[in-house]
Amino acid sequence: MDRDTKLVHCIKVRQPEFEFDFDIPKYWFYNNPVITHNFNGYNLLFPEFERFFIRSVAYFKTQIQDEKLLEQIKAFSGQESLHAQAHESYFKVLEHQGYKINRFLTYYKRYALMIENMATPKLRIALTAAAEHYTATIADIVLTNPALLKNMHPTMKKLIIWHSAEEVEHRTVAFDVMKTIGVNYPTRLLAFFMTSLDMLLWSTLSSLMLLRQDKISLLKSIQYKRQFSKQFASVKKQLRQSLLAYLKRDFHPGKIKHLQLAHEQLKEVGIHD
Ligand SMILES: [Fe+2]
Ligand SMILES: [Fe+2]
Repeated sequence: MDRDTKLVHCIKVRQPEFEFDFDIPKYWFYNNPVITHNFNGYNLLFPEFERFFIRSVAYFKTQIQDEKLLEQIKAFSGQESLHAQAHESYFKVLEHQGYKINRFLTYYKRYALMIENMATPKLRIALTAAAEHYTATIADIVLTNPALLKNMHPTMKKLIIWHSAEEVEHRTVAFDVMKTIGVNYPTRLLAFFMTSLDMLLWSTLSSLMLLRQDKISLLKSIQYKRQFSKQFASVKKQLRQSLLAYLKRDFHPGKIKHLQLAHEQLKEVGIHD
């Protein structure tokens, strides 16, 4: 058993302190408004997403006998709940910078609730497993491309590393619950496509909402996006390969291992177990 395989069984709920000072620069990602607002946009979506994940997984708790998986579910819920709180705390930085986000959040919450009410419990856990693959993929990209976070404001760096490390740590939980309760392959695929559309739609809308308030034109936005693609050419390929892997019938998120890397980077930003 390699070190990463041993580590996967230990999901730790950490409670790092975050000082969301108002000195965080407006464009904290390489002074690039488009990529900064992509992250900011996800930041607005995360709290609602993560609370949905917790509810979806908790629904099946009584049907699971495996003690190890039950322990992992508990830790998963603890981690996600703290992620949601931390990202929500960051909202006040955006508001201090002058962004109006409440209207967007109201529409988004209404939409998320509608989907949750319409989906069956099995579809909800499949949507959660798919979304967890997205978050783990983004986490893999962050952890394996240290240049992305170079020169970043320390609070933002700490937030992103902490969230990424824990996404990597609990990446198998929702998937294993989904497998245990017998969600079939077509439902898994349907959920992946629904999640992909959702991610694309809401991350685009949230970024555009913020960019519009900065009065940044579409043409200028495309230029900023190109600048990022040139700077981090390998990221797109990594993203595509990881997402497509989910479509394989024998896919399991435990096959991807960045745990050791995650724990090293947690220490680097001062988060210790
Ligand atoms: Fe999370
Ligand atoms: Fe997660």
